[in-house]
Amino acid sequence: MTDTALLELRGVSKHFGAVIALHEVDFRVYPGCVTALVGDNGAGKSTLIKSVAGIYRIDGGEVLYEGQKVHISGPREAADLGIEVVYQDLALADNLDVVQNMFLGREELESLHTLDEIKMEARAQDTLQSLSVTTIRSVRQTVAGLSGGQRQSVAVAKAVMWNSRLVILDEPTAALGVAQTRQVLDLVKRLAEQGLGVVIVSHNLHDIFEVADNITVLRLGQNVAEFKRTEVTQEQVVHAITAGKLSKVPGVVDTTEEVTA
Ligand SMILES: Nc1ncnc2c1ncn2[C@@H]1O[C@H](COP(=O)(O)OP(=O)(O)OP(=O)(O)O)[C@@H](O)[C@H]1O
Ligand SMILES: [Mg+2]
Repeated sequence: MTDTALLELRGVSKHFGAVIALHEVDFRVYPGCVTALVGDNGAGKSTLIKSVAGIYRIDGGEVLYEGQKVHISGPREAADLGIEVVYQDLALADNLDVVQNMFLGREELESLHTLDEIKMEARAQDTLQSLSVTTIRSVRQTVAGLSGGQRQSVAVAKAVMWNSRLVILDEPTAALGVAQTRQVLDLVKRLAEQGLGVVIVSHNLHDIFEVADNITVLRLGQNVAEFKRTEVTQEQVVHAITAGKLSKVPGVVDTTEEVTA
């Protein structure tokens, strides 16, 4: 692990009308590390990710990428920085094959024009192989015929193929069975081993404790705790998710404190 964060959010706020989705959130992601982002429903996890992905524009605070201040005002800027977000189901086109999916949406990129089908196929195959994804029998099969875990693997491989530095996975294992979850978690670990920064959003603490190096807890739009995985128990993380200490945020009524105290 290096000292310079790959991605750093400083005091980032995001409002939707009167709703404070993020309130002065600090968040750091290091290269070669898996950072888990956890929190209850509505805590602000997806809002944070969408802000980093350029889908939402933040209202306050700043974003640093490799120590430099950046303004990510659209998905294209995020992609140019090497930031890729993998969503559970949205990322792939069912009627296209694995290769077509991995090149989809990159038509404007320089090298694509010089690539022929065979080269594209080889590149897709190499990428899957470099991630030790071995369960996909043919890269020419349509994605509709893949399992949830295989689809997720293709989506991650696609992200990696385009020189990503930061891969963000929003609930990657939510709909997966045991074996498929295993496959995706292994892939997450390999991404970090290859030096990428990885963010994983999950409600499954078991998964998180298996892959994460660092754990950041959001609650009602605030960063209420940061842990190193090796220095914390699942009970402590659950406590932070449900009853972490909060400073008073204007407009936010905290109803959980009394119940859980
Ligand atoms: N586009 C939007 N317009 C208005 N309010 C929004 C919007 N997106 C999110 N919010 C609100 O912001 C808060 C944070 O929502 P967000 O989706 O980031 O939570 P989350 O942590 O991802 O929750 P979950 O675990 O359920 O996915 C919630 O109160 C939500 O209602
Ligand atoms: Mg969400």
